[in-house]
Amino acid sequence: MKVILQLVLIVMPSFIRSEAIDVTAGRSGTGTGKVIVSNRKSSNGLSMGIKNFERDAGRQRFASYERDLVIDTIEAADYPAEIHVVTTKDGYILKLHRIPDPALLKDTDYSEEQPLNEPGGCQGVVLLMHGLFSTAADFVVTGPESGLAFVLADAGFDVWMGNARGTRFSRKNLNHTPKEAAFWDFSWHEIGIGDLSAIIDYMLRQTNQQSLFYVGHNQGITALLVLLSEKPRYNRKISIAAGMAPVAYLGSGNNEIVKNLAKFNDQLWKTLNTLNIFELTPTENVLQFLGNIICSGEAPTQTVCSDLLAEMFGYSSDQAKLLLPGMLDNALSGISTKQLVHYGQLIQSRKLQQFDYKNFLTNMQRYKQVKAPEYNLSKVTVPFLLFSGSREFFTSSADFQKLVKNLPNVESQSELPGWGHMDFIYNAQVYLKVYSRIIEVMQNFTT
Ligand SMILES: *[C@@H]1O[C@H](CO)[C@@H](O)[C@H](O)[C@H]1NC(C)=O
Repeated sequence: MKVILQLVLIVMPSFIRSEAIDVTAGRSGTGTGKVIVSNRKSSNGLSMGIKNFERDAGRQRFASYERDLVIDTIEAADYPAEIHVVTTKDGYILKLHRIPDPALLKDTDYSEEQPLNEPGGCQGVVLLMHGLFSTAADFVVTGPESGLAFVLADAGFDVWMGNARGTRFSRKNLNHTPKEAAFWDFSWHEIGIGDLSAIIDYMLRQTNQQSLFYVGHNQGITALLVLLSEKPRYNRKISIAAGMAPVAYLGSGNNEIVKNLAKFNDQLWKTLNTLNIFELTPTENVLQFLGNIICSGEAPTQTVCSDLLAEMFGYSSDQAKLLLPGMLDNALSGISTKQLVHYGQLIQSRKLQQFDYKNFLTNMQRYKQVKAPEYNLSKVTVPFLLFSGSREFFTSSADFQKLVKNLPNVESQSELPGWGHMDFIYNAQVYLKVYSRIIEVMQNFTT
């Protein structure tokens, strides 16, 4: 306990800083709908876009949802960009980024539907969902040659990117501001049930489609599995799902650091709650904070630990280092402490299950049973393509194989030797080894 308290003192200043950044949380209740359309060609180079973003960063915080890094990067690359806003049933106002298919935009008249899957027509609608501590920026930061959103757009898809509640693009709620504890009372469970369902329904309405393709990175798959098992009717709305570095089962590996995280998980939850800390932001201080917890006791040396943590956030990737550090910071985003602690519980239990309040009454109240219920993966009928790296931080090969075994409809699975989870964004071979295979399967898909 003493260790943890010291650590919290280290980490406090960064939380105070994160409060100051919160200003996008506004009072002006934005409804669901499209905010801006920009399909004009932009003459800016990519570097110009970044510069403008940095120069305007201060002003942007106070502006509404009109400009951001993702939109600037898309426009700088000369692709059409749109922002859409979706409100969930529980009041979270989520921003969606879109690179619409130019075939759909030809007459800038959306009512003139192009038939899908025809030569020159739209290949289909695809939703990309980012991982833990990330945002839609992950799918564009590496630029038009290798960013997943761009290569999908080039292949003829109508590309949408979600931003989970609590991330820098989705920090509004009709009833709460991010300063209130109630705003942060969510995990990836709610991101699946609340955010993904609202986003998918909105996209299908907007594009007049029955189903869409889904590509999830890391937590993007955890949330999808939650949705598909808890609300099985969404299985019909997804034709194929591709999972990159999917997180589902945890704790089967022998990683001492991961074991340590599980050991301190309950204390961490209690301590952060006591101190009214509900948001974790991926700053140096937080890395240090988590590092100190995870790397205490029996775990390997501090250096090994911080290396692994750096990898967890993508700092260690060679290509990430090449990108402007400021840009990487802008690509990263905060999460609720509950999101992390919920993952910690999966390591403890080795089950894919709902949040355990570790309190008889609360569990009874929420679940009508003492134990946190497991997600029933036999209800997930969507065909999956799964890609995992052998150098994953949280997930071991055994965890990954457990997911492959328990998902009823795995079409293909591969483990990429030496890859960590950020390789699915930054690795120089990601197009060749992963994206091109996903695109091929989606293009060959017919109902
Ligand atoms: C899980 O779902 C399957 C398929 O709907 C069902 O047959 C099975 O009873 C469920 N298992 C549990 C533990 O609820």
